[in-house]
Amino acid sequence: MDNKISATSGGSVKVGDFHINRMGFGAMRITGDGIWGEPKDRESAKQVLQRAVELDINLIDTADAYGPEVSENLIREALHPYQGVVIATKGGLTRGGPNEWTPDCSPAHLKEACDASLQRLGVERIDLYQLHTVDSNVPFEDSYQTLLDLQREGKIRHIGLSNIEPEHFKTAMEMGEFVSVQNNYNIFNREHEDILNLCEQNGIAFIPYFPVGGGQSDMQQSVLQSVADKHGVTTHQVALAWLLAHSPVMLPIPGTSTIAHLEENVAATNIQFDPEDLDALERVAG
Ligand SMILES: NC(=O)c1ccc[n+]([C@@H]2O[C@H](COP(=O)([O-])OP(=O)(O)OC[C@H]3O[C@@H](n4cnc5c(N)ncnc54)[C@H](OP(=O)(O)O)[C@@H]3O)[C@@H](O)[C@H]2O)c1
Repeated sequence: MDNKISATSGGSVKVGDFHINRMGFGAMRITGDGIWGEPKDRESAKQVLQRAVELDINLIDTADAYGPEVSENLIREALHPYQGVVIATKGGLTRGGPNEWTPDCSPAHLKEACDASLQRLGVERIDLYQLHTVDSNVPFEDSYQTLLDLQREGKIRHIGLSNIEPEHFKTAMEMGEFVSVQNNYNIFNREHEDILNLCEQNGIAFIPYFPVGGGQSDMQQSVLQSVADKHGVTTHQVALAWLLAHSPVMLPIPGTSTIAHLEENVAATNIQFDPEDLDALERVAG
């Protein structure tokens, strides 16, 4: 593996008119426990964000709901005025306490949430604004139309979707342009392969969340471990490198609160699998 650590080693993917290096950063883990309140150490959380940019990460994923507000506030303190780094935030989930997430994708809430994120991030326009989820109490068309309206007003540059099913993808395509989809996906959980395929067919970035997610059996873990041992890397790095190898539109955003894990995750862009590795890893995916 090459010693230089840079997110550029993973190549890039187009997200609207941005060229994004194919290792982003998920800023959900820089808050308190249960994604609630301030982190234990604000200064070290900001250092993680700054180190991410030093390592050529040029997409930071966040949401108004992370903290809530805490993640966006830390990003502004650490990185404003951003200088070429895309801050991708989201609206549509509200918080009642640690680990509690309640959808509200009503037009009124989304408009209010977008205005509040603009203020917190200190920008006139949000580069990538993602509908955080689909709210079963609100027609998807109404939520999506609200984002299209915010875009027309100049408050949003590009629209992204999250936690969607293929029917939402198709409806949104008919209504107006979006540039990314963020769904749960990793080597152990390929439930949303259909959405990934739609993204590939339509030149839309796929941002897998829980990219180093759990739920693996001992057998699956041992396959990852043997590939990791062969390359002298960790199983987390193998899981991330597999995502990059699996699709050119894949844009992982691993979340971490430590610089050590951040550097490890970005270094995964240097791993080159041979066909034997990919065969073994294909048996894990399921
Ligand atoms: N759209 C949605 O609904 C949604 C849902 C969940 C997440 N997200 C986004 O997706 C991002 C990624 O998801 P995630 O953070 O939940 O899951 P993840 O990246 O799969 O896993 C993060 C967890 O793994 C640990 N970790 C990270 N790198 C590691 C490494 N190299 N070695 C060992 N442990 C490591 C982290 O702990 P340490 O802090 O100790 O490193 C953290 O607990 C989030 O940050 C967020 O931006 C979106």
